[in-house]
Amino acid sequence: MKENMAPYEKLLLQNKAWAKEQNAEDPGFFKRLSAQQSPKFLWIGCSDSRVPADKITGTDPGEIFVHRNIANMVVNTDINLLSVLQYAVEVLKVEHVIVCGHYGCGGIKAAMGQTHLGIINHWLKNIKDVYRYHREEIDGLPSEDDRVNRLIELNVQEQVFNLAKTSIVQAAWKSDQRPHLHGWVYGLSDGLIKPVFEMEAGTHIDPLYEYDNL
Ligand code: CO
Repeated sequence: MKENMAPYEKLLLQNKAWAKEQNAEDPGFFKRLSAQQSPKFLWIGCSDSRVPADKITGTDPGEIFVHRNIANMVVNTDINLLSVLQYAVEVLKVEHVIVCGHYGCGGIKAAMGQTHLGIINHWLKNIKDVYRYHREEIDGLPSEDDRVNRLIELNVQEQVFNLAKTSIVQAAWKSDQRPHLHGWVYGLSDGLIKPVFEMEAGTHIDPLYEYDNL
């Protein structure tokens, strides 16, 4: 490697090495993947650099369709999330949608505080709402870490509910009993994922969100 290499140049060099290695291990790899993708999973995770979906699940390119944002939110006015969800459910026909949060999430911590952070506050407001729904339980916990980590779990659960409330998921549940929804939380300190909430395809939710003409 040449000296005084800019950090981004290192990424390009590592990419070359990775492609070469991948090709040596499995000569058909790129040809196969460039023809089509058929992932079984949609991953909705936090943008945090320490929670890479494929690495922590030991999966290869082609296995997981990924959407990431601050604090792994499912916001029903987010055209980006909705487009990803629609494509994953209706075209790729994924069988599982996973919302994966992580302990120590900075987005959740910020949402529990009162510092104005500019535009990000509009995003964090969705998390403040989750806190408000569960205020009694969370505020009853002894330490700040406990309170943050419990909100992280409850937020994942709430985002699974938000998925279930979309007409995209409601229609897929009606027509072919998929996708199953999963709420997970990843531990930065031990690398382990803890499942905290599940929703089988077809689970009945508040009829307010069930459309009879889908
Ligand atoms: Co985070």
